[in-house]
Amino acid sequence: MLIITLILGIVYYIPALVANGSAPFVRRGTPIDFGKKLSDNRRLLGDGKTFEGLLLALTFGSTVGVIIAKFLGEEWIVIAFWESLAAMLGDMLGAFIKRRLGMERGQRAPLLDQLDFFLASTLALLILGVKLQVIQVISVGLIVIGLHMFTNYVAFRLKIKSVPW
Ligand code: CTP
Ligand code: MG
Repeated sequence: MLIITLILGIVYYIPALVANGSAPFVRRGTPIDFGKKLSDNRRLLGDGKTFEGLLLALTFGSTVGVIIAKFLGEEWIVIAFWESLAAMLGDMLGAFIKRRLGMERGQRAPLLDQLDFFLASTLALLILGVKLQVIQVISVGLIVIGLHMFTNYVAFRLKIKSVPW
């Protein structure tokens, strides 16, 4: 059943989506790069990547994992944690790349902004032995791009984010 496959695909990615979506609730915190600049005189990651955001993301991502585990099996408690961590590492890698390209915090980087955490969590799911299908990765990837544009706009209107992307 295609619809079951698609729904399952979405469920697999919920920890990463929740992790990535909860970090923006931290508006100010201790930067993970401690303000460090590289030789290009740009920040390593920038003020948009904080320990508080990372911790909140891991907490929320792991918590939904506990709920998912009730349906898909208890291994999902562990999977959700690593998936959330991978999502945040992907997000940090995205920020690292943006800084190296000379882009300011929050500056728009189409696709990189949406897919950094998604591709990293996909990698984590595969390493953790979750039997992802190509159709699931593609369909959730498209949903993520659409959802990202929508939620960022809502967060902007609610003044959670300073820019609408
Ligand atoms: N955030 C955080 N810690 C993280 C990730 C995100 O505190 N590890 C918060 C920051 O307040 C950040 C917001 O979530 O501004 C939105 O995240 P994101 O869009 O990934 O960051 P940007 O502000 O767009 O910065 P960048 O250009 O570095 O991606
Ligand atoms: Mg961003």
